[in-house]
Amino acid sequence: MVIHNYYWESVFIQSFQETIMSERSRMQKLLQIVSFISQLVVKRMQKIILKSIPKGNIIDIGGGGEGIIAQIGRERVTAIDKHQREIDEAKHKAPEATWVLADAKDLDYSNDHFDNATSFFSIMYMSSEDKIEVCKEVYRVLKPHGEFWVWDSSISKEKGVFFIKIKAVLPDKKVVRTGYGVSSKKQTINSTKETLENSGFKVEVVENKKNWFFLKAKK
Ligand SMILES: C[S@@+](CC[C@H](N)C(=O)[O-])C[C@H]1O[C@@H](n2cnc3c(N)ncnc32)[C@H](O)[C@@H]1O
Repeated sequence: MVIHNYYWESVFIQSFQETIMSERSRMQKLLQIVSFISQLVVKRMQKIILKSIPKGNIIDIGGGGEGIIAQIGRERVTAIDKHQREIDEAKHKAPEATWVLADAKDLDYSNDHFDNATSFFSIMYMSSEDKIEVCKEVYRVLKPHGEFWVWDSSISKEKGVFFIKIKAVLPDKKVVRTGYGVSSKKQTINSTKETLENSGFKVEVVENKKNWFFLKAKK
């Protein structure tokens, strides 16, 4: 198995630093690290076949890291990420895309700017409050009837760390093996559907797999 890259949020790296610094939480943090590493070893890879992405110009939320959507849509994609290091990591994989350092809670685009939007395993990195703000912003910058395609993890654990290993098969048959890790927070297909609906979207397609889901929502 060839693992190209794993992305885990800085809270995990911080927790490692805190492990060294704070005696009190040392055991707890060490357990998190052990849990993370065991998930890395034990968990099965989830195969996600990306047959297509939306048409037209696309805003991709949290588009750094592997830059999966930018690798597919190329010059059609504006990839937004709030971390420069994630953009730097992805940029060379799709230099034709537009790379923008920004928080998706506050997008510097006029209303009805983009044809469609995507988010590939990015919302699992957001708090519930941030998810709502981001979905409302995406709704605002989408043209009428624009679609928001969301791929993300189903997370049942509220504490500890969560990790998902992914084998993404792109439309040109390129295979990207990667993994996304985060400090655990409950996230279900229903909670995500509700967030989209509360932001104004109508959810039209629902695909529920064991460890991840896909939702297609329309403005
Ligand atoms: C798993 S990573 C990258 C996944 C990416 N879509 C890919 O193709 O590999 C999730 C990304 O979401 C970004 N992110 C999280 N919250 C964000 C926000 N509010 N605005 C913009 N980017 C955000 C993180 O910086 C991170 O790069």
